[in-house]
Amino acid sequence: MIRLSNEAILEEVKNRLPEKRFKHSLGVAEAAVKLSKIYGVDENSAYVAGIAHDVAKYTKPHEIEDYVNKYEIYLDEYEERSLALSHSILGSYVARYEFGVFDSDIVNAIRYHTTGRADMSMLEKVVFMADLVEEGRDFQIVDELRELAFGGKIDDAIIMALDNTIMFVIKKGQIIHPRSIEARNFLINLKKYTIQGK
Ligand SMILES: [Fe+2]
Ligand SMILES: [Fe+2]
Repeated sequence: MIRLSNEAILEEVKNRLPEKRFKHSLGVAEAAVKLSKIYGVDENSAYVAGIAHDVAKYTKPHEIEDYVNKYEIYLDEYEERSLALSHSILGSYVARYEFGVFDSDIVNAIRYHTTGRADMSMLEKVVFMADLVEEGRDFQIVDELRELAFGGKIDDAIIMALDNTIMFVIKKGQIIHPRSIEARNFLINLKKYTIQGK
């Protein structure tokens, strides 16, 4: 299929999300564009990934199976049990097969926006952080995260965000997706060796 225009993608997303989540998506797109300028990634890719990242957030349980069958989606044991985790995977397929977004960097930025993963591309990092620091977000450490993310320290921002999420999940007695641990370990290792190498 031919890739939908940005306007058409925006319209599709709007139709699939409640107003509050659509507003969040606009906020993420805006933050992602700002970050893309700081970190030198393609602005339009950041915008499209930002707009589309949560497109599958309101997929109904019976629809998940339809998607899985239709697009031959593999959900791991964690994602299978939780829309909080699977919406990013499903969303990446919606972007690809329903919006015609075949750019694998954009698809991956949507796919990994919830958990992160080891060795993320700069676009993946930008979308991961934009999701957390867009202007509608309000939680304890959001200002610190904004300062780091918009201050050229996106890796530190991601480590802090992951620490925060992981501790929150532990406190609630919930399961942590291994990709989040891998994302954190990767960045901590990178930092360690970068400092040692100086
Ligand atoms: Fe999300
Ligand atoms: Fe989001």
